Amino acid sequence: MKQLVIAIDGPSGAGKGTVARAVAAQLGYRHVDSGAMYRAVGWKALRDGVPLDSDDGVAALAERSIIDVTPPLITIDGSDVTRAIRTPEIDRAAAAVARLPKVRAVLVERQRECGTQGAIVMEGRDIGTVVFPNADVKIYLDASPDERARRRAADPAHSGGPTAVADVATLLRTRDAIDRTRTASPLYVAKDAVVIDTTGKSVDEVVREVISVIRPYLRSL
Ligand code: C5P
Repeated sequence: MKQLVIAIDGPSGAGKGTVARAVAAQLGYRHVDSGAMYRAVGWKALRDGVPLDSDDGVAALAERSIIDVTPPLITIDGSDVTRAIRTPEIDRAAAAVARLPKVRAVLVERQRECGTQGAIVMEGRDIGTVVFPNADVKIYLDASPDERARRRAADPAHSGGPTAVADVATLLRTRDAIDRTRTASPLYVAKDAVVIDTTGKSVDEVVREVISVIRPYLRSL
């Protein structure tokens, strides 16, 4: 069976994490959360007092860091940051460092290294557009802003932040605006991506839809 590279992109709260994890498990593929790499770098930059707008400073920090996003733990230089990176402070720090072109270049190279053997489901914002422009399958998951805010507010992995849906909606809007309007690799739908609107759908429904998009490619060698 062909070992595919599957890219899943979309805005925050569209369900990428849950869906990518389930799809990878069904296929027996590796799941890579590229956002966790930006989060880990943002976490370390804050800890070390490196200004979040210094492309050279943060890129050098990323370059010398050992980042491991192999589920279920996220570590940077051996520190377990799995929980520490899911806070509103790190939401902002990750979005800030993700705007910096040299930082992106370092992390995109690491992401491409993960994909050399295929058999991978990678989720992020630029996986189908920049990291793997030749991915076998590209999925873009979206959902209404209200639903994305509701999901994020209910997500126990994002504890410690505002749980009022209206507050979460405001924070998501701000972060989405940064991700969509930045000059370096903004979030947009790749022209050959299949767009799936997950609003009002269960995780199982979305996973079935994604698998049905992937299935024909598994057979074509
Ligand atoms: O997906 P997640 O919300 O964990 O990503 C955190 C931040 O990392 C996003 O807001 C985005 O700015 C950045 N990111 C990115 N490119 C990716 C994945 C994440 O710019 N491929």
